[in-house]
Amino acid sequence: MKSDMYSKFAQQYDEAVKGNIYNALFERPNLQAMLGDIEGKNVLDLGCGSGVYADYFLNEGAMSVTCLDFSAEMVNIVKNKFDQRVLAYVQDLSEGLPKEVDGQYDVIVCPLVIHYLKDLTTLFNDVHRVLKPGGYMAFSTHHPFADFECSTSGNYFDTELVQEEWNTVGTPVQVTFYRRPLVEITNAVTNAGLSITQISEGQASEAIKQACQQTYERLSKNPNFIFIKCQK
Ligand SMILES: C[S@@+](CC[C@H](N)C(=O)[O-])C[C@H]1O[C@@H](n2cnc3c(N)ncnc32)[C@H](O)[C@@H]1O
Repeated sequence: MKSDMYSKFAQQYDEAVKGNIYNALFERPNLQAMLGDIEGKNVLDLGCGSGVYADYFLNEGAMSVTCLDFSAEMVNIVKNKFDQRVLAYVQDLSEGLPKEVDGQYDVIVCPLVIHYLKDLTTLFNDVHRVLKPGGYMAFSTHHPFADFECSTSGNYFDTELVQEEWNTVGTPVQVTFYRRPLVEITNAVTNAGLSITQISEGQASEAIKQACQQTYERLSKNPNFIFIKCQK
């Protein structure tokens, strides 16, 4: 499933995620807490969006940063922001990583992307292929328990295309994505030959409490995103 909304609202997305609660104060600190020392590492950013993670990796001293996204608009924003400092190109991740050679990356991230992919097998097989031995991937996605609220089948074990209205870009937008059982995600990882080394459900921080008490309460008591680290 290819999401048009990220192309249509690429600039608005870039503005919104700089300081909003769900991306800047919740998702990024929790996923970045799973990443070790980035200095001198070759990093691959899958579903890079407008480059907020690329910015982090460059500031942390990565040796190289490669950014892939389905949206040409997002890739252009990344190229304009970082010029030669990153390699960025358009790639539909449901087709895997056909342009990437084997065993070249120390670290791969894939923040808030896999819920747009119908099948995870091709991508995770390629993640295993392009990681160096001992290299790792950290990714985040919608928590399957949270997404079950969107189910139309009522069967948690189904994989379903569902719709929700979001306000991330400052205007209500219908977003379509896949909800799936937790085991479909973990099986895609382990069947590819990767070992899961850490799972987090995210912690709501003091910064979120300061920004919005109501959202803090919600994120403190309900699952929202899940964060998984896996190693080759
Ligand atoms: C929620 S945004 C996350 C962007 C970025 N990782 C971040 O944390 O800001 C989801 C991104 O996934 C990209 N995306 C959706 N489907 C994709 C696909 N099939 N292949 C590659 N990228 C995809 C979208 O274009 C969008 O940039």
